[in-house]
Amino acid sequence: KKSEAWSARFSEPVSDLVKRYTASVFFDKRLAAVDIQGSLAHAEMLARQNIISQSDLAAIQGGMQQISTEIADGSFAWLLDLEDVHLNIEKRLTELVGDAGKRLHTGRSRNDQVATDIRLYLRAAIDDLTLLLAELRLALVDLAEQHAETILPGFTHMQVAQPVTFGHHLLAYVEMFGRDAERLADCRKRVNRLPLGAAALAGTTFPIDRELVAQLLGFDEVCFNSLDAVSDRDFAIEFCAAAALVMTHISRMSEELVIWMSPRVGFIDIADRFCTGSSIMPQKKNPDVPELARGKTGRVTGHLMSLLTLMKGQPLAYNKDNQEDKEPLFDTVDTLTDTLRIFADMARGITVKADAMRAAALQGYATATDLADYLVKKGLPFRDAHEAVAHAVRICVDKGCDLSDLTLDQLKAFSPLIEQDIYQVLTLEGSVAARDHVGGTAPRQVRLAIARVRAQLADV
Ligand code: ARG
Repeated sequence: KKSEAWSARFSEPVSDLVKRYTASVFFDKRLAAVDIQGSLAHAEMLARQNIISQSDLAAIQGGMQQISTEIADGSFAWLLDLEDVHLNIEKRLTELVGDAGKRLHTGRSRNDQVATDIRLYLRAAIDDLTLLLAELRLALVDLAEQHAETILPGFTHMQVAQPVTFGHHLLAYVEMFGRDAERLADCRKRVNRLPLGAAALAGTTFPIDRELVAQLLGFDEVCFNSLDAVSDRDFAIEFCAAAALVMTHISRMSEELVIWMSPRVGFIDIADRFCTGSSIMPQKKNPDVPELARGKTGRVTGHLMSLLTLMKGQPLAYNKDNQEDKEPLFDTVDTLTDTLRIFADMARGITVKADAMRAAALQGYATATDLADYLVKKGLPFRDAHEAVAHAVRICVDKGCDLSDLTLDQLKAFSPLIEQDIYQVLTLEGSVAARDHVGGTAPRQVRLAIARVRAQLADV
């Protein structure tokens, strides 16, 4: 039985195991829609260039319509014998429309076909993910707006450092996800180039019109070297790198959510629908979603490594190795899609416990830097001010009190420059409000930053 497209060349069939080993149809069938889209553009170009007839084109279009319907309603018979999505569809087309179907592959190879399919698939995925990133940013911005004035301790080395507003803290993630969107947009430029026309590797003897195909498929331009066109997977690697960074940001945020939700910290609660209980400990409410997202970050980073490793030893041009690009890529898209969707929803299900945040900010001498800055403004060199405040903190540690608990006379012992107005400076509100410049934590700046992000998001 000659079911394979090249069987005339072979004297024996491959074993079932080899067939299964080399087949990709069970995962690449998700490219069916873009494969058909690419074939229709190719066929239209062939007809316009008089390489196939108008009636062949019409037959191909009718057959593809039928195939799309069969795939949609689940009646399409995907065959392992036919190896991949491309051969499955082409074979069915030929069953349906005869010779016209056999003419479709004129001037084309699966090598440029699959490269085109992945690019079409990835372009759509990038557009979807861009919207999901915008939704997550919007959810975080909305929460930030409610908490432009809510104060919590900012940490360095996991030690209380300086007070910050919770809105400001959330906006740090909004910045990260904003850069992620920029990276996706930049990657999209290199995704959006047409490989078709490269054929197997050297181009084709037919008078094809690649610009027309590019235009029909919405590509910005063609790939300019046929060898590169069929073997380049940079665009997929770039995408996975951008995706790994998205997940890295998700993972950092997850880590904070887990810490904040820990009863020892108690800064937030996460809506029940994102948490699960324990099968043994009845009291538990675990932040499973952020923990799992943190775990899935490893998987996406792994996919990036897979693709880099897949490419590093490949000579030009196409090699079968490239069939291995799909599962990591698809899983990256799926993982990111689900994660972003869930996180946008989860961000709206966060309850902030402002009292606990405030209480924590009051511990750990978070306003010590403010006292030093105060002395500098009164003329003391910063290093001397730092030293004076360090002494004051040391005394407070011994006494077990805060800087603002010291009397004016006690404070004056550290520097005669300290006056009554220091007590305003030492408040949490005074501290955050004083950081009132672009990028600072002052509530006023948080609101300005929110307005800027909202304006950006309006264009997405
Ligand atoms: N299934 C193959 C892939 O995903 C299609 C290209 C196959 N080309 C070839 N010459 N074997 O890469």
